[in-house]
Amino acid sequence: MRIFNKNICCIGAGYVGGPTMAVIASNCSDLRVDVIDINQQRINDWNSDDFSKLPIFEPGLENIIKKQRGINLFFSNKIEECISKADIIFISVNTPTKTKGIGAGYASDLKWIESSARQIAKYAKNHTIVVEKSTLPVKTAETIKIILNSSEEEDKKNNGTIEKKSFSIVSNPEFLAEGTAINDLQNPDRVLIGGDDDYSINLISEIYQNWVDPSKIITTNLWSSELSKLVANAFLAQRISSINSISAICESTGANIHEVAKAIGTDTRIGSKFLNPGPGFGGSCFKKDILNLVYLCRYYGLNEVGDYWEQIVKINIWQQKRISALVIKNLFGTLSNKRLAIFGFSFKANTNDTRESPSISISKNLLQEGAELTFYDPKVCEQQILIELNGTNSEGNILVCKSALKAAEGADAILVLTEWDEFINLDWKSIYKYMRKPSWIFDTRSFLNGDELRTIGFKTWTLGAL
Ligand code: NAD
Ligand code: UGA
Repeated sequence: MRIFNKNICCIGAGYVGGPTMAVIASNCSDLRVDVIDINQQRINDWNSDDFSKLPIFEPGLENIIKKQRGINLFFSNKIEECISKADIIFISVNTPTKTKGIGAGYASDLKWIESSARQIAKYAKNHTIVVEKSTLPVKTAETIKIILNSSEEEDKKNNGTIEKKSFSIVSNPEFLAEGTAINDLQNPDRVLIGGDDDYSINLISEIYQNWVDPSKIITTNLWSSELSKLVANAFLAQRISSINSISAICESTGANIHEVAKAIGTDTRIGSKFLNPGPGFGGSCFKKDILNLVYLCRYYGLNEVGDYWEQIVKINIWQQKRISALVIKNLFGTLSNKRLAIFGFSFKANTNDTRESPSISISKNLLQEGAELTFYDPKVCEQQILIELNGTNSEGNILVCKSALKAAEGADAILVLTEWDEFINLDWKSIYKYMRKPSWIFDTRSFLNGDELRTIGFKTWTLGAL
């Protein structure tokens, strides 16, 4: 079966909706893909002729947008029009942690999911397949079904006529990682499709089969699919907290974290991926998805299971505090009248996303100790850094620079917090010349050449090594 001439609509033009729909459009010329969003600025940016203004930086994304936009890929705020003509609607809206009310700090805030479901209920026509692309608590499909069906009831009452619309729901969580999103979408390890009707599962599967081998498409029931996404992120984050906890033991004992990671990672049962130590995981999802899992465990009375998974987040917070404390200790216990340069503000390399970046909490800790901070990140703009650090620079102790050298000028220390490739090849000799002495480098990604830096004259601290 091949699907032809279907209309796809994606609600949410964010980090998932934008790249995912771009890749679907580029692989399925028979499909029309409309990506809609309530954020007008975001839509304008997606439609900008200046491609440097695309709202998301992802290697390979710009090329796809150049080729597909206006052909079979469209970005707009025409919510009613796009929903009403869609055969398939992907919901790719944000699902952050609730900040107030029941479950605050743990449960997902599903208000954007609910508003999307209500928009679909109102404007959809005929039979529509609704695809959960956002990461959701297990059983959310039940809520979406209730909203879709009850709204149809309301239509019947208000108009006195019966609209012939119907819905089926499919869960198709997204596993892309930022910075490698296009490659992940183009060559996924697997595509997961959960549902309870074969027609819808097959139709969604057909879309992916345009470029994904059928052996990589896994089908499950709805609840397994919803839960698997949370569990996948929990397992990935667990590996990071595990290796980070061991990095501290390495520093105390003289073991080296890279040697340990290699020694354990060559065991094929453990595997070598996701064993890079660092300043703790950031990004919009790991923390929120684990906390959501913890909430679900406790909701179902599984308190010990909840406590087990919460520990992953606790170690992550501890790692960031530990690094801040180490910096302060090595700089003679005080940061007053000291300038520190922060290299890297995004939560990982190759993205401009700063959500939950370890750079935020570490910078705040250092500011609290009285430091003056300069920043350099190849992709994060000044405004974004200021917003993350609470929107103000009232004390004048934050300076965002256009180059690494500028940020390092007069600094006592450099903290490398994001593993941007360009940091490896910086002109470290020149940087050293312009810093105050003794000049420190704190390599929290453990990826710079420490021997070379020490030869230049730097004092170095490397995560997971003596
Ligand atoms: P995002 O905040 O970048 O984008 C969400 C977009 O949805 C926003 O632009 C927002 O304006 C829009 N939106 C919200 N409600 C809307 C509505 N009712 N109608 C139209 N537009 C609406 O979020 P994201 O990073 O793309 O994440 C989306 C979901 O995907 C989350 O559940 C997340 O957990 C999951 N996810 C994210 C990633 C990632 O790498 N960012 C990867 C896999 C899964
Ligand atoms: C992660 C998952 O990898 C994706 O599969 C998932 O779809 C996505 O979350 C999501 O649901 O949002 P992402 O957060 O974009 O993707 O990026 P990762 O590569 O997983 O990195 C997350 C954080 O962990 C980053 O701060 C990164 O620097 C850190 N990390 C990663 C390490 O410290 N060490 C590692 O070995 C790997």
